[in-house]
Amino acid sequence: MSKQVARHDLLERVTEYIGDDLLKVEQIFSDELATDHEFVADIQYHVSRFRGKRLRPILMLLTAKALGEVKHDHMVLAAVVEMIHTATLVHDDVLDDAATRRHVATVNSRWNNETSVLYGDYLFTHAFHLASSLDSTLGCRLIGQATNVVCVGELSQINERGNSELSEEHYLRIIDQKTAELCALSCRLGALFGDADEDIVNSMDCYGRSLGIAFQIADDILDVIGEEEDMGKTLGSDLQKQKLTLPLIRLLEQLGEAEAAQVREILAQPNEETGAALKPYFARCEAIEYAHHRAIEFAQEARQQIEKLPDSEATQILADVAEFAVNRNF
Ligand code: IPE
Ligand code: IPE
Ligand code: MG
Ligand code: MG
Repeated sequence: MSKQVARHDLLERVTEYIGDDLLKVEQIFSDELATDHEFVADIQYHVSRFRGKRLRPILMLLTAKALGEVKHDHMVLAAVVEMIHTATLVHDDVLDDAATRRHVATVNSRWNNETSVLYGDYLFTHAFHLASSLDSTLGCRLIGQATNVVCVGELSQINERGNSELSEEHYLRIIDQKTAELCALSCRLGALFGDADEDIVNSMDCYGRSLGIAFQIADDILDVIGEEEDMGKTLGSDLQKQKLTLPLIRLLEQLGEAEAAQVREILAQPNEETGAALKPYFARCEAIEYAHHRAIEFAQEARQQIEKLPDSEATQILADVAEFAVNRNF
């Protein structure tokens, strides 16, 4: 209960502190995607019925505030990064065969995979179109570089599908690329467009990266033990799609040879019972606890990066966001 309250408090503090700027980001986001085309507008309306957490814009605007003022460029860049993030989710739901996202039907389940692929492309192209509206090409270039890395992460993940020997180190590299890169970018852009010194820009990048890794580990734990109603999205897809994540990597490391072989067999033939079949193994091995502990370590690393910033409401909220990344149920 106390954690629930803490989350509610955090949301309230974020809204109070940067709510007006976040609304401007929403406006830029929806203006860019506006269309007269009836079918595209239908998809747009459907997708906009429930918003995500807006974590990446929040990271960018808080970083800007921690180091100075939020400028118009920050808000445009925040909308661009959120658009790219949304595009990756639309495509990810095709890869995962997911039915629900942000509490509503995914584009692939409401329409079909083809529509999702093309709507994801629509979001990507609009993101770069919007980024090119800025005077400086720097933002567009850095966003392009980071999106290249995200794509490599997604491709690596698909390539490692079904590999039950995946190491923790390799897993961390993949989540660094597919998830942490955009969080790091959000903070880097927040600092760069706030004219921060190079070492502060680098510290903010490290903060975002460690936070992003912690956030994805927590997401991977929730894929195994979370509630779909809280998360608002289809869970269990990592198991169904044979993507090894930290809880399972640890489980396989901890089990003896015979039991590890049993688990590998379960993983090789995913079905609706897979989660339940793994439960007794998880109960014995504390693999979930280990993954949570690793997430906490990354969140601590994130917090250490911002210790050198001037103390302010923004810095304190950034520290709390790192805490939220690992202690959440949505
Ligand atoms: C989901 O990201 C994908 C991951 C990186 C775990 P978010 O949890 O930030 O998704 P939304 O934007 O809030 O829906
Ligand atoms: C994050 O991974 C996907 C991207 C970075 C695109 P997940 O596959 O775990 O995300 P969810 O759980 O579907 O939101
Ligand atoms: Mg997914
Ligand atoms: Mg997930």
